[in-house]
Amino acid sequence: MTTRLSITQLDEMKQRGEKIAVLTSYDASFARLLEDAGVDVLLVGDSLGMVVQGQESTLPVTLADMVYHLSCVARVSRRTMLVADMPYLSDCTPEQALAAASQLMKAGAHMVKLEGAGHRLDIISTLTRNAVPVCGHLGLLPQSVFRLGGYRVQGREQAEAQHILNDAIAIQDAGAQLLVLECVPRLLAAEISKALRIPVIGIGAGVDTDGQVLVVYDMLGITSGKPAKFVKDFLADSDSISAAIRAYVSAVKAGSFPAAEHTFL
Ligand code: KIV
Repeated sequence: MTTRLSITQLDEMKQRGEKIAVLTSYDASFARLLEDAGVDVLLVGDSLGMVVQGQESTLPVTLADMVYHLSCVARVSRRTMLVADMPYLSDCTPEQALAAASQLMKAGAHMVKLEGAGHRLDIISTLTRNAVPVCGHLGLLPQSVFRLGGYRVQGREQAEAQHILNDAIAIQDAGAQLLVLECVPRLLAAEISKALRIPVIGIGAGVDTDGQVLVVYDMLGITSGKPAKFVKDFLADSDSISAAIRAYVSAVKAGSFPAAEHTFL
């Protein structure tokens, strides 16, 4: 029997210094390829709005969209932990967040991810008290792209960096068991990863986090437009999609991805 990766095993990986390889997944065929290639965690991200639906941002993604794509992944997944995004405005109050998380957990998620801290700390503790495992998300928050004024590196100023560190500790204290840190300088991500007991997964956060995540279409070089600085096209040097995914997993585990050219200082 295949056993599924648990949060306890992710904690142990952090303690051992073994890097965690995460990729997004939105359908059954990719979910199979990703599991076979040794990815540890599949994130059914609301990035599906952009890479699957062709939207300009993640904001139009609905809970029904998330449930649909999560179900496609969950139906075939056997070994990985499945994390699903709470879509935009589905988590404004604890009651609303519980109702949305309930649909995601029943569709096969093992953990839900929500963006930000502040009033969301209450929501994180409501979810965790009700046995819904939570992954936080700090740094660049794609659901706040219009408030932030664009997709920009966060935490370059000292005060802002301190704020993100404080939020990370508060999210852990509220009961979150995993944290995604997006587009922050390497040293800040290293400090947060060291300060937290829970695993920290970086995207555009340098090599010192406990693991890495990319949007799967980005790491295959099939996303339109100029790729972000933190993206590497693993298909460019591989002869198949499976080989590219295996190369990503190996590079994450070896600590050779992200390299300096993918890192914000
Ligand atoms: O939706 C998503 O794919 C994400 C990643 C960018 C971390 O949240």
